[in-house]
Amino acid sequence: MRTRFCGEINQSLIDEHVVACGWVHRRRDHGGVVFIDLRDREGIVQVVFDPVAESEAFHVAEQVRSEFVIQVEGKVRARPDGTENPDMPTGAVEILGKKLVILNKAQTPPFHIDDEDVHEETRLKFRYLDLRRPFMQQKLSIRAHITRVLRRFLDEHGFLDIETPMLTRATPEGARDYLVPSRTHKGRFFALPQSPQLFKQLLMMSGLERYYQIVRCFRDEDLRADRQPEFTQLDIEASFLTEDDIMTLMESMMRQVFAKVLEIQLPNPFPRLTYQVAMARYGTDRPDLRIPLELVEVSDLMASVTFKVFSDPANDPRGRVAALRIPNGGEIPRSAIDKYTEFVGIYGAKGLAYIKVNDTQAGREGLQSPIVKFLPDEALAGIVSRTNAQNGDLIFFGAGKEKTVNESMAALRVHIGHDLGLVEYGWRPLWVVNFPMFAWNENEQRWTAQHHPFTAPATDNTELLEVAPRDCHSQAYDMVLNGTEIGGGSIRIHRSEMQLAIFRILGIDEEEAKQRFGFLLEALTHGCPPHGGIAFGLDRIAMLMTGASSIREVIAFPKTQTAHCPLTDAPAIADERQLRELGIRVRSADFPKVS
Ligand code: AMO
Ligand code: AMP
Repeated sequence: MRTRFCGEINQSLIDEHVVACGWVHRRRDHGGVVFIDLRDREGIVQVVFDPVAESEAFHVAEQVRSEFVIQVEGKVRARPDGTENPDMPTGAVEILGKKLVILNKAQTPPFHIDDEDVHEETRLKFRYLDLRRPFMQQKLSIRAHITRVLRRFLDEHGFLDIETPMLTRATPEGARDYLVPSRTHKGRFFALPQSPQLFKQLLMMSGLERYYQIVRCFRDEDLRADRQPEFTQLDIEASFLTEDDIMTLMESMMRQVFAKVLEIQLPNPFPRLTYQVAMARYGTDRPDLRIPLELVEVSDLMASVTFKVFSDPANDPRGRVAALRIPNGGEIPRSAIDKYTEFVGIYGAKGLAYIKVNDTQAGREGLQSPIVKFLPDEALAGIVSRTNAQNGDLIFFGAGKEKTVNESMAALRVHIGHDLGLVEYGWRPLWVVNFPMFAWNENEQRWTAQHHPFTAPATDNTELLEVAPRDCHSQAYDMVLNGTEIGGGSIRIHRSEMQLAIFRILGIDEEEAKQRFGFLLEALTHGCPPHGGIAFGLDRIAMLMTGASSIREVIAFPKTQTAHCPLTDAPAIADERQLRELGIRVRSADFPKVS
């Protein structure tokens, strides 16, 4: 039907007779001549219809409207002098239309394809129109390029692409499951996988050595810009590789992707930060290294001051007092400081103390702040020297429970970094390593796995783990890029005794472990090799590499923030017969009845 894509028509084709197909991007009538901007996936080209030279085609051209699907035949010619459009790749030429066939009509679209300011709900309801936009097509095309490069890299490194079940048992990754009722086993449910974690480990026990899969994962959790209920992982597992081997291989894969897709050289090697250092300096395990601001520990300096806001957390083993120096921040007005104080309040901080540094040589006289009067000279001098404060700087302080200080000061660091235009240009990947094995769940008063329950601890000593779980580290690693966690993995437990010990610490007794994970425990006894792996969030990688602000922009058909699809109106009500077959009755009287 076509001889050329619209986007490839340029000066090299002048005088060529071409046939192009696509959508009417725009139609203009000018002094009796009709201009159509014809659009296909590869670009837009201008077609001119002249009433004198080609009256039949001209009359058809008069009838077309935006988004009609048409076929155009004509001759490529240079645009007349002064009418070239240097902003368009095809802007030096046009097609002189000789024939026009309307392949299909279209209603007036709910928004113009060029309109950038359309409500997201409308965009998602008419996603097929939204995806006609060149910038959306470009994102999906970059995403496809990313997966092409990833697959090629893994294929070349001996990884086998193997599929794992979608209808399965719960796979604990810390979110709620999506359940699927079974008709053949009434009252029982499959769970959609939160990840293929256990299957990929079983593939290692099967001797397949190296596995990968680009796979959909399902997690019913609160949604954010970088979280969707169904998302795509690049899931990887390998046998007989150490933690270091896996990290080295995976970062070379990421370097390859950036080099091939964006022509960007990422650092070699990626820096590695321990979890402890990341928390101390940035208050988070996914620091954005493009922001040149760091937290400074001042708890020890505040232990014996009389200012209780600082001394109480300084003396609490779960407390922290941290300083954040803002170079030249002395000019930040009071009103902005009040806004930052409100901002940290979102994260539970009770206040945001600050000191303006006017003159570092003048002792307490050189420091300006409502809290200076509560702090002795040594503490003030300690703050100035430890933060390396200079005249004109501002120092913020977070004090309280470690978790609150970390979360609020980490967010403040990023917020101020953006406000003051301090975010450096470029790509700053890193590994975060040496995670704690367990995290304490305050509400439920129990230990949970920091990564997942199959992650190997750094020690082989099960007794040590059970006596002091707080002090144990795991062999887990996260890859972080510009403040986003793009991947996480670990070396796995490959002995059943260790797996049972970890389950015990997590409050899963032997009976429950057998009931939920019996197949894994048994497989571990049949010759399981040492193995480990990682999973990358493909949507997040595509979001970062396309400069999108949300993963919804790089998923063809995403869900809204409430996990709804405006296009298909899923989730939908099931009809009564279907439910009866499944042995299910919808309980709440508030739910709408299906007739
Ligand atoms: P984890 O839970 O860290 O590890 O997930 C791996 C990566 O998947 C991405 N991700 C998400 N992306 C979009 N929406 C979500 N709701 C979402 N949740 C996670 C993140 C994350 O780094 N089985 C382990 C991996 C392993 O140990 O090999 C796992 O799933 O980028
Ligand atoms: P207050 O004694 O509550 O009036 O607080 C004195 C100063 O300390 C104010 O600037 C508060 O914003 C600040 N402040 C209070 N609580 C905290 C806290 N938890 N962390 C940091 N600063 C605080």
